[in-house]
Amino acid sequence: MLSEKLLAKLNEQITHEFYSAHYYLAMAAYFKKEDLDGFANFFIVQAEEERFHAMKFFNFIYDQGEEAVITGFKDPRRDFKSAEEIFTLALEHEQLVSSLINDLMAIALEEKHYPSISFLQWFIDEQVEEEATMGKLLNQVKRVGEEGHGILMLDRELAARSFTPEGE
Ligand code: FEO
Repeated sequence: MLSEKLLAKLNEQITHEFYSAHYYLAMAAYFKKEDLDGFANFFIVQAEEERFHAMKFFNFIYDQGEEAVITGFKDPRRDFKSAEEIFTLALEHEQLVSSLINDLMAIALEEKHYPSISFLQWFIDEQVEEEATMGKLLNQVKRVGEEGHGILMLDRELAARSFTPEGE
């Protein structure tokens, strides 16, 4: 049994996660346009991960005997100018998501709702990974710059990423 407050916040998180998928797909579209297919692949895989996150919330709500409420969201931004800008925005976005997950955990702890605490712990750990990945790639993009051999090497590396359900 979930409190009204916790249920509402868990439902909101479904929307945040699907929005994240859309946001990352918009970033993938920028890289497609730039013929950087490896970077595009990275964000397409990231979008898949976000949909997987959304569905974890969706399923958890039903496992708790409640109902999910599916709502819409705003258009994601798509006026990107560079890889550095994109990774800066992606890192900021993950930091925002981390704060949302932390807020959810704070409610679960306050309510001593142990199933939610256990469920949310996976997301707390996942966010550490997500922030670290975006931060590392931002630094690498800054180091190699937007033109030349370095960015193409990085592009080749990112082409190898594939979706693994537990976000490895
Ligand atoms: Fe679902 Fe990237 O956080």
